[in-house]
Amino acid sequence: MIYPLLKKLLFQLNPENAHHLGIFGIRTIFNTPIASSILSSKLRYESPSLKQTIMGIEFENPVGLAAGFDKHCDFFQHFHSLGFGFGEVGTITPIAQKGNDKPRLFRDKRNHAILNRMGFNNGGLDHCKKILSKMQNFKTPIAINIGKNKITPNEQANQDYQKLIEGLSDYASFFVVNISSPNTPGLRNLQAKGELKKLLEPIMETNSKLQNKPIALKIAPDITESEAQDIVDVVFEVGISCIVATNTTIDKSNISSHLKDEAGGVSGKPVQSKSDQVLKWIAQKVEKRIPIIGVGGIFNADDAYRKIKLGANLVEVYTGWIYEGPYLIKKINIGLEQALKRDGFKNISEAVGLQLKEDE
Ligand SMILES: Cc1cc2nc3c(=O)[nH]c(=O)nc-3n(C[C@H](O)[C@H](O)[C@H](O)COP(=O)(O)O)c2cc1C
Repeated sequence: MIYPLLKKLLFQLNPENAHHLGIFGIRTIFNTPIASSILSSKLRYESPSLKQTIMGIEFENPVGLAAGFDKHCDFFQHFHSLGFGFGEVGTITPIAQKGNDKPRLFRDKRNHAILNRMGFNNGGLDHCKKILSKMQNFKTPIAINIGKNKITPNEQANQDYQKLIEGLSDYASFFVVNISSPNTPGLRNLQAKGELKKLLEPIMETNSKLQNKPIALKIAPDITESEAQDIVDVVFEVGISCIVATNTTIDKSNISSHLKDEAGGVSGKPVQSKSDQVLKWIAQKVEKRIPIIGVGGIFNADDAYRKIKLGANLVEVYTGWIYEGPYLIKKINIGLEQALKRDGFKNISEAVGLQLKEDE
């Protein structure tokens, strides 16, 4: 009831100011224990049918907050009260970065989309470590999304990811290696088969000497089926634990004309079909040997259930949360529970990849 009004006000502001104000609001409200517990009871939905254990981690529900919202580790401790089953912080790079020049964040209301070229603005490894080390027992699993600094050449990118894993292993439920942002020049080249293997092998070796936390790989929606096959081949060769599909798209064909010439990645409705297609290819090739997180264009429970039936074990939202508001997560979880009941399943894990079987 309140969010449409709040959204009207927030959408009067420039998107980046609205983002900061939103985070300020979350921190102010949820840092007050009584307000937090009242709101948590309104925003969370619990059901045994939504619980899963994946990569050895317990998820109370399958809906997470995608990377890029909590870039500075500002409110991850409130993911649980906000209704999420898990969430990502970051992308974090070893050295703090300002990111690209402003303006770098644009709304496309007509298409329920966002275009961003933030460029990994974040406080860096030390800042992230300082905050995470002060707070333990986060109530939801926290994934740390890691990336390379802009100034680090691709040939040395592995060292950046290794540093981040070394510095943050104590705090991550799992890591997400991000090689799919379109806003760090050349980053996506690391997705090519040879490059990817060279990047991931030393990272996995470092990780195995530490706590061996699960490592997920986040990929772009702008890939072909054969590129998806190459990625899956390397993922199995080096022992990656999970694939996150997908990041934003560089395809501007489905956004408003005034944004078509802006550099950056597009999220929300315009990325939905591409993300679904890549998710389907990945799921067909992975054959349930490792879990998949589906992200891109989720605005309701149907979108989330479709991704689960295409092979996602968990899902994440970003743009949908902005357009639909804070109740979205509860609505998705209630809708998922109803869909499971309708289809005769006791637990969400039984619906994973169902569509792929039907298509055979
Ligand atoms: C403003 C903005 C910043 C983002 N920053 C990151 C980031 O730092 N790292 C990352 O892996 N993904 C980032 N993403 C991508 C999202 O995590 C997600 O993969 C993408 O937006 C598709 O999901 P959606 O359609 O639900 O937004 C960002 C997205 C947006 C809109």
